[in-house]
Amino acid sequence: MSLHIAAQPGDIAETVLLPGDPIRAKWIAQTFLDNPICYNEVRGMLGYTGSYKGKPVSVQGTGMGIPSALIYSHELINDYGVKNLIRVGSAGSYQKNIKLKDIVIAMAASSTSNINTARFTNSDYSPTVDFELFMKAIQYAKDNNISIKAGNVLSSDEFYEDDPNSYKRWAEFGVLCVEMETAGLYTIAAKHNVKALAILTISDSLVTGEKTSSEERATTFNKMVEIALGTL
Ligand code: ADE
Repeated sequence: MSLHIAAQPGDIAETVLLPGDPIRAKWIAQTFLDNPICYNEVRGMLGYTGSYKGKPVSVQGTGMGIPSALIYSHELINDYGVKNLIRVGSAGSYQKNIKLKDIVIAMAASSTSNINTARFTNSDYSPTVDFELFMKAIQYAKDNNISIKAGNVLSSDEFYEDDPNSYKRWAEFGVLCVEMETAGLYTIAAKHNVKALAILTISDSLVTGEKTSSEERATTFNKMVEIALGTL
């Protein structure tokens, strides 16, 4: 086992869906996968492996924020040989035309995190989606009449900002929405030459102050997971 995941080598599939919430990981495994087996309960960060249309796939909770997501991504890649990491998460809209329940695919992730400014000594690095996974997700959505938006997202280190208007600067530069993990995920995937994709559902809007209900979040989560599994 690795430090935070109690699985044996071979227990985890090459493709892993990554919700932030471990209870979502359990729900995805029990709802979408055949014969799901729980391989991890360390720190309550549930992980399952099962199959989808005959292909092995795992689902692993990552917790919230880049530091937590990086721990799980690092161990999945380096200790279990994972090749495709697909985040399925929620985000807050920064734009008028990005509405509650919309699905956004992150083509790139800006960030308030210092991980890359420190790594590249005050220069910018642009964490970007894997093109092949991105195109597969777009194609699946198109073939199944699922409307999606795609563009730059912000991976913030803070959920609760001091200034409720600070989102406007990012919005002005075309950033679609805010979440807390994708910049870390795209960076570590690039470093280890594996593929990563983040699919996000809008759960709240910084523009209007609206929020989705928990029922609405469950329904939209379905579509996002379908797109993620459609890339297999
Ligand atoms: N995830 C969902 N909504 C968010 C928000 N408003 N800020 C950061 N992460 C989020």
